[in-house]
Amino acid sequence: MELGEDLPIRILRRTWQPVALARDLKPGGVSGYKLLDFDIVIARFPDGRLLAAENSCPHKGMRLSLGKVHGGELQCAYHGWRFDPSGACTNIPSLIDPPANKLEASTLTHYGIQERYGMIWVQMENHDSEQLPDIPEFEDPDWTFTLGPPTPFKAGFRREIENYLDMTHFAFAHSSTLGKAADSVVPRMDITELDDGFLMDAPFPALKTPHEQPGKLQSAHRRKQRCYLPNFTTIRQTFEDGDERLLVHIPSPNSIFECTVFWALAISKDFHGPSPEDQMAFAIKVLDEDRTMCENQIPREVPINPARGGWGVLVTPGDTLANTFEKVFRKYLIKHQGESEDQGRSMIPPY
Ligand code: FES
Ligand SMILES: [Fe+2]
Repeated sequence: MELGEDLPIRILRRTWQPVALARDLKPGGVSGYKLLDFDIVIARFPDGRLLAAENSCPHKGMRLSLGKVHGGELQCAYHGWRFDPSGACTNIPSLIDPPANKLEASTLTHYGIQERYGMIWVQMENHDSEQLPDIPEFEDPDWTFTLGPPTPFKAGFRREIENYLDMTHFAFAHSSTLGKAADSVVPRMDITELDDGFLMDAPFPALKTPHEQPGKLQSAHRRKQRCYLPNFTTIRQTFEDGDERLLVHIPSPNSIFECTVFWALAISKDFHGPSPEDQMAFAIKVLDEDRTMCENQIPREVPINPARGGWGVLVTPGDTLANTFEKVFRKYLIKHQGESEDQGRSMIPPY
């Protein structure tokens, strides 16, 4: 079945996507984000409540992300209309006694919003069946959980997922970091397809006789990659001394061709090796090398249907995992295609 290239962007509106780090949205804070082709505003009120809404004032379309929280409400920067944490319009300063129907007609189109894992998550279409995966290590005080800086990629989110799943690029794209001890031939991967994604188990492809002495982060370890559809993917690294690290990447789609990678690193108790700060600095360097690869692939998103330069053809055993992702992702799209709220009508983003 041929699927439309914009289908992923439409279907993902049912899912929870990260839009900010919680620490960057303090009480009284307002910011904007482009999520799945829509401009959204997010705000945290002094009582802690959160609001996510269309970033367009019902009056004249001003971006509400340029407004401010005033008196416990979100105030538009242009003519001062005010909105409470539920999105209801409470005040139109140019009207002494605004009629109820005018206020009601000015309610903001708002979305689901929650805070978890140190991130603010937004769900544009309400589907109760969509939940964030539970990752106990991220909430376990014995583990050191550190958030990376959200990193914009000028590439589709599936380019980033494929990159994150790919172990054959270490020796080349990461020649000065991960690749110092990496073998370009990947070991056998055990892949299990699951209802909500897949699990891959394999050793890190470390050379038996490395050309350079690897540090702990480049040395032999077991990797378990777990993908929770559509785009929440963890890598569990288990080192030979029993230490563990758990990385997560969530490339939050801004549009078909751009995403922002939200990511974090959890380190097991009493980890023997570099400090959490040094591990973060190393991870930032690796991510930047990956960004260069993702931003220089043509087209900027993996074609949704199998194609040369995409997936499903001209592949090597190392591409099996990316192919597994694309295959299960297609099934996910087909399963949810009929449930999309905007099915059959064209969406005009508000900008
Ligand atoms: S555009 Fe927002 S109050 Fe006028
Ligand atoms: Fe990489």
